[in-house]
Amino acid sequence: LSSKPLKGRRVIVTAGATVERIDPVRYITNDSSGKMGFAIAAAARDLGADVHLIMGSTQASPPQGIPHTRVESAQDMYDALQEVWETADIVVKAAAVADYRPKEQFDRKIKKSGDQMSLELVKTVDILESLGRMKTTQFLIGFAAETNDLDKYAMDKLRRKNCDLLVANDVTQEGAGFGTDTNVVSIFDSSGLVEALPLMSKEMAALRIMELAAERLAGALD
Ligand code: PMT
Repeated sequence: LSSKPLKGRRVIVTAGATVERIDPVRYITNDSSGKMGFAIAAAARDLGADVHLIMGSTQASPPQGIPHTRVESAQDMYDALQEVWETADIVVKAAAVADYRPKEQFDRKIKKSGDQMSLELVKTVDILESLGRMKTTQFLIGFAAETNDLDKYAMDKLRRKNCDLLVANDVTQEGAGFGTDTNVVSIFDSSGLVEALPLMSKEMAALRIMELAAERLAGALD
């Protein structure tokens, strides 16, 4: 078997958190450090792929030598993906995208006034779901961060977003999910659970995910 099974393949990876602005100094975001997405990008590169990263806000630094585009909001991430989508063989959505954003984005800093204030939120574009609808030859890998009923929600997301593989992490488990160097993931396809990986580094988990994608993609061409 080739040690570079993704040679000649173009892989787009999203990593990190989106930032949804409230006003010039305030925003809504989440705890994604970018580590999982960066590990995926590095694994894809090591397997021979031509990789491009689309990254939101991150604590970690992207792997050296992998070209990247920085984005802020879910809408920016969607726009950046639209530009590269046609050229992609594999798209991996490891980024943690906000589901809601402030309805209004204020040009000036909001002044303190009453004892209470409420912020109206509206849904962001579901990037993965849109890509799932646009899909022709692309191999689409989604992620799911869950706190309960992992299998049920993972399979629901896989079907609803038309993914080829879905990588689910139970973020309540020790050493799994946001910010950590390790993860505990289960990988699903349309027929159900493919592999439940034990606790391991995000690099090792990423390698397994990308090897599986390479096998599936090669199989699809046979
Ligand atoms: O970055 P780290 O600190 O290493 O943490 C890794 C991680 C926990 C962020 C990562 O492993 C992970 O699970 N990423 C997906 C987190 C997430 O947003 O899950 P979700 O269940 O809310 O979304 C499901 C999928 O839909 C994801 O692939 C997400 O990118 C996508 N999505 C969600 C909302 C939206 N508006 N657009 C999307 O494309």
